[in-house]
Amino acid sequence: MPQRLESGFIHPVPSEITPRAAYEGRREWMKRLAAGALGTGLAGWAARDAMAQAKVVPLPGARSAVPGAYTMEKATPKADATSYNNFYEFGTDKADPAKNAHTLVTRPWTVAVEGEVKKPRTFDIDALLKLAAMEERVYRLRCVEGWSMVLPWVGYSLAELIKQVEPTGNAKFVEFHTLADPKTMPFVGSRVLEWPYVEGLRLDEALHPLTLLAFGMYGEVLPNQNGAPVRLVVPWKYGFKSAKSIVKIRFVEKQPRTAWVKAAASEYGFYSNVNPKVDHPRWSQATERRIGEDGIFAKKRPTLMFNGYEAQVGPMYAGLDLSKNF
Ligand code: MTE
Repeated sequence: MPQRLESGFIHPVPSEITPRAAYEGRREWMKRLAAGALGTGLAGWAARDAMAQAKVVPLPGARSAVPGAYTMEKATPKADATSYNNFYEFGTDKADPAKNAHTLVTRPWTVAVEGEVKKPRTFDIDALLKLAAMEERVYRLRCVEGWSMVLPWVGYSLAELIKQVEPTGNAKFVEFHTLADPKTMPFVGSRVLEWPYVEGLRLDEALHPLTLLAFGMYGEVLPNQNGAPVRLVVPWKYGFKSAKSIVKIRFVEKQPRTAWVKAAASEYGFYSNVNPKVDHPRWSQATERRIGEDGIFAKKRPTLMFNGYEAQVGPMYAGLDLSKNF
């Protein structure tokens, strides 16, 4: 059972995060169950797979020239990246988003950009897709729970959008609000988090060229479970900062109260920079397991400071006590 926090919110602890082998076994079992239920054996499952495949829309991007944007590490298999997800609006089990997110409606879709900006504007998703040249970037993603992936994203620097709206001198932080639609998202209304899922960055972090507004992965439009039609990817921070299915971007003067800070401020800080030296109160952050590569008995690999992006982002935190500002 997930742990109930003092705040009344509940969320899973790592020991409850399904071990990979058990998860894979269950996935296989679920496939058989689905095939059996259809009464057509494995052919039924194959047909469903083919339907899912048919929805794939190509979204190519040119290799990014942003320093650090292209790790040479092996990308996580797409099958893993699209079936082992955190998207609590669709359930807290890793397999839930792939199972449930087909109900997410991604057209029409708009993103309102407002607050401390000279030119507030609501962008239609198709206008956003054309706002800047699409780039492919291969980033490490380190989840706060202790696993990681290497993902080939398609998108452009969030700075391209910020340029368009011209933040005022009062803009110190940026808030990201994601969709919270109880009609299409079965777990909005559950007490796991306060909805909508809100995340935030300091303005300089939001303007950093590595901060990506992503529309695709693996050269294709984002699958719903990965945050379609538009999400954030902040590679040097724990994965929960990378908000999925964004509908509003708000420039503000004060540090935002994010969904995870509201749920458990002592466990999930505003910064949430990947840091092997600052443990989560309930587990170590020194090592990680790479999904799709490291079996459950494999030795865990060391977690890197700022997830390996220290050369690019370290200077933004000069003089900041990272153990207090975790
Ligand atoms: N965004 C929303 N709206 N809801 C969520 O539950 N989970 C976060 C983040 N963005 C989440 C979210 C967490 S904990 C992680 S690790 C990443 O999405 C996972 O992204 P992925 O499933 O594409 O790997």
